[in-house]
Amino acid sequence: MHLAPNRAVAEYLNRDLPYKLSEDDVYLTLGCLQAIEVALTVLARPGANILFPRPGFPYYESRAAVCGLEVRHFDLVPERGWEVDLEAIESLADKNTVAMVVVNPGNPCGCVYSYEHLKKVAETAKKLGILVIADEVYAHLTFGSKQFVPMGVFGSIVPVLTLGSISKRWIVPGWRLGWLVTTDPNGILLKTGMVDTIKGYLDISSDPPTVIQGGVQQLIENTKEDFFLKIKSLLKKAADTGYDRLQDIPCVTCPMKPEGSMFVMVKLNLSKLDDIEDDVDFCVKLAREESVIVLPGIAVGLKNWLRVTFAIEPSALEDGLDRMKAFCKRHGKKQ
Ligand SMILES: *Cc1c(COP(=O)(O)O)cnc(C)c1O
Ligand SMILES: *[C@@H]1O[C@H](CO)[C@@H](O)[C@H](O)[C@H]1NC(C)=O
Repeated sequence: MHLAPNRAVAEYLNRDLPYKLSEDDVYLTLGCLQAIEVALTVLARPGANILFPRPGFPYYESRAAVCGLEVRHFDLVPERGWEVDLEAIESLADKNTVAMVVVNPGNPCGCVYSYEHLKKVAETAKKLGILVIADEVYAHLTFGSKQFVPMGVFGSIVPVLTLGSISKRWIVPGWRLGWLVTTDPNGILLKTGMVDTIKGYLDISSDPPTVIQGGVQQLIENTKEDFFLKIKSLLKKAADTGYDRLQDIPCVTCPMKPEGSMFVMVKLNLSKLDDIEDDVDFCVKLAREESVIVLPGIAVGLKNWLRVTFAIEPSALEDGLDRMKAFCKRHGKKQ
């Protein structure tokens, strides 16, 4: 049976939810990036602020700046598997706070949140009277001990705007199709006019290419389980190899083995390095001397950390980390 593309996405998401979304809950966007744009734009109003994770995905900061939303950051705690520091959230929020963002599985941390932790996030948001924006663009890209749990499972505790796309799980980042979904079984977003605002904003935006809209049902229904298993096993192998090799590099520490997404955060120990000023200096010199690119932590909000992606060919990953090790040795403090 041929389904409308938003219906196909609703049915896909319903596989993991305790209630049923309808096609009217699903808004198709130009990838997850446009879903972020829509979510932040419809929430913006003079004086409003929004809570973002640190480290985070920098596009959120840029978008908030464009629509004049004040940003406040809460920390993700490396010692607790990069969980949200919920106490900090309570002290950051005030009557002008509109929402908090949760990226799960996490970019840049490679973390996957448990059911219990997500439930606590939902309860905290409810207590503060704010929405949760759940960026689930890495949904199901997990390969550790924890299964992916969508934030929408807690939609009856607090209204959730779920953002996603086909870019990452199906590895088609150029096929610009994503979604913003009101996972809100109590209809709070409808009653408060948020749904109308979302519709109004999308009325003046471009839609995803019709060719891809036409293919999304096929993509969702006919991608073989094998494809996903293969990707997950590749990512797991790369995460394991990457983690092991990082342990061998004296000037960095890696607080947690990644369990999802395609990234891991490692902390630089500058006191072990001779002529490296900070994370940016490290990355620039590493690129120049070893042709290895890692992202300076400051780009995701954590100075003197590095974000390493392991979503590359295993042999290239091993080579890259060997070069990073050689670089650290060469620049290591001579005792
Ligand atoms: C890649 C990414 C996006 C953007 O996804 P697209 O579907 O390619 O637009 C959004 N959020 C996070 C956290 C990402 O890593
Ligand atoms: C950083 O390196 C110094 C010098 O070797 C060491 O004393 C210190 O414990 C290290 N810090 C961390 C956080 O690993």
